[in-house]
Amino acid sequence: MSSLLNVLKDKLSGKNVRIVLPEGEDVRVLSAAVELQASDYVAPVVLGNQDNIKKLAEEEGLNIEGIEVIQPDTSDLKAELVEKFVERRKGKATEEQAQELLNNVNYFGTMLVYAGKADGLVSGAAHSTADTVRPALQIIKTKPGVSRTSGVFFMIKEDKQYLFGDCAINPELAASDLAEIAIESAKTAQSFGMEPKVAMLSFSTKGSAKSDDTEKVVQAVELAQEKIDSENLTDVVVDGEFQFDAAIVPEVAKKKAPGAKIQGDANVFIFPSLEAGNIGYKIAQRLGGFDAVGPVLQGLNSPVNDLSRGCSSEDVYNLSIITAAQSLQ
Ligand SMILES: CC(C)(COP(=O)(O)OP(=O)(O)OC[C@H]1O[C@@H](n2cnc3c(N)ncnc32)[C@H](O)[C@@H]1OP(=O)(O)O)[C@@H](O)C(=O)NCCC(=O)NCCS
Repeated sequence: MSSLLNVLKDKLSGKNVRIVLPEGEDVRVLSAAVELQASDYVAPVVLGNQDNIKKLAEEEGLNIEGIEVIQPDTSDLKAELVEKFVERRKGKATEEQAQELLNNVNYFGTMLVYAGKADGLVSGAAHSTADTVRPALQIIKTKPGVSRTSGVFFMIKEDKQYLFGDCAINPELAASDLAEIAIESAKTAQSFGMEPKVAMLSFSTKGSAKSDDTEKVVQAVELAQEKIDSENLTDVVVDGEFQFDAAIVPEVAKKKAPGAKIQGDANVFIFPSLEAGNIGYKIAQRLGGFDAVGPVLQGLNSPVNDLSRGCSSEDVYNLSIITAAQSLQ
């Protein structure tokens, strides 16, 4: 974990990247903001009620001097952001609805990013994934060529680092979605210094079982390869369908998938469904002792990332560093 963060911190040093933390009234978030403010890596922009935040800081002995704190409902920026929101939503929100929505810290914070007044956002310590992510999907939207955002976790233990996706966003996935997520995850892995070997996971290895679900993964591998060829992504390897052991244990790969491009050395794992991905990363975290960093959302025009509600102040700090690094890409 610390080696990944150290590389990112080097990149961020002196860049003054502004990350919005909408949940400033949560002590974990405010503590992380104080630590970020004291660092040279990220300038936090904290949202919430000014009085509540002051009181919390006093109670917890946190020095918030110098931290930018914005209260959405009384902010000078609100009128401008309301106007931009109505324009962005093109008939999907009236001005009255926008006035109301922009009192919500996640909508206000996401608008700060959209309007270029901040570089990224980290929320979710006190909000569900859906409430954190929805404003980003509606306002920031996906990059050209990406049809859906997805959420990956960096799974880190000692010198081992893997990427797991989609563990956070898409309840329904077609083969074409899985292929897109594989390619986006490979690009995310590359941008964090990994050489992606992407395993498309299933309960079957190279035809050992057959069902609609396994066929979907087989088709996803073909579609991902087509994307690799058309985008000339020469440094990306995708193969499957694999059971997890065939993707990660060389001896098993030799037996179950002798001709495969990945021989037990996969480092990016694409799960066939959100259920599998979400359960899978938590097993690695809780039984395997891996640190799970994320979900890091990929495919958006600007980075917005979601915390778990069980997160610590350190998690808020770390995800802010990762989000800031994404904003430089
Ligand atoms: C992500 C999620 C919140 C979107 O749900 P939703 O708001 O009901 O989705 P909607 O279909 O109403 O779409 C809302 C907007 O987001 C967009 N959208 C939805 N899913 C998207 C995706 N995966 N990527 C990009 N945009 C997406 C829609 O196009 C729509 O945009 P529009 O309003 O401009 O037309 C929902 O899929 C969800 O709850 N996923 C599971 C999250 C979760 O609980 N994960 C487990 C814990 S980590």
